[in-house]
Amino acid sequence: MSTEPAKPVRRTTVPQIRARKGGEPIVCLTSYHAHTAAIVDRHADLILVGDSLGMVMHGMETTVGVPLDLMVMHGRAVVRGTKQALVVVDMPFGSYEEGPNVAFRNAAHVMKETGCGAVKLEGGSRMGETIRFLTERGIPVMAHIGLTPQSSHVMGGFKTQGRDEETWPAHLEDARVVAEAGAFSVVVEGVVEPLAARITAECPIPTVGIGASAACDGQILVLEDMLGLSPRPPKFVKVYGQLGAMIEQAVEAYAADVRSRGFPTEDQVYR
Ligand code: KIV
Repeated sequence: MSTEPAKPVRRTTVPQIRARKGGEPIVCLTSYHAHTAAIVDRHADLILVGDSLGMVMHGMETTVGVPLDLMVMHGRAVVRGTKQALVVVDMPFGSYEEGPNVAFRNAAHVMKETGCGAVKLEGGSRMGETIRFLTERGIPVMAHIGLTPQSSHVMGGFKTQGRDEETWPAHLEDARVVAEAGAFSVVVEGVVEPLAARITAECPIPTVGIGASAACDGQILVLEDMLGLSPRPPKFVKVYGQLGAMIEQAVEAYAADVRSRGFPTEDQVYR
């Protein structure tokens, strides 16, 4: 048996993620609660407590209705359940767009109350000033460009971006501005592959793709989508597990046992 003391586990830091530009792909997943986060933590570099939790966990139609308190609650649970991944908490709609001061107040609240390592907010060029304000005051920011679900009402739904090449300069400008403002990485969501490749080639910070091809510096998926728990996962999701079917089977077996008095048995009874 080794007499060496166990090495303390250190959390991945923002500069370590930043330094992965063009290097080993960055593994990211969402998680919203402690037990799944503990599993994800053993394999991912970065865990996002995404505001997608409004749709996935709370049955909302879009992410627009997610309140700040909900992000704090789930953020805390994920930080408690993890040791090594960098935990990033999403700023929900309405908590940062008004201006840098409001964004700072709310982002500082999220960081203090959850213990997360960074926040994420949606928007490119229009968020440059806010990203600079936050990063200069000690709040690391992950940006999010391309398809930005909080703007789905303006965009007319969840639409793939960049199909028309004339729109590319605006997306490239978004990436340039958020990087220059100090974001340490940028989620690129729902864009066509050649645009994702251009953004990744031109942007000095790591791009983390979701529905944006293998051209990005890293990938992120919503955990429930890749586990087979979402009824209709988007085209860009690869489903790695069939948890929905497993839960169905288990619940069906439990219900049958209870009805036939097959549960509990001797093994589950206190004597
Ligand atoms: O809210 C979320 O889960 C996200 C990811 C899909 C990137 O923003």
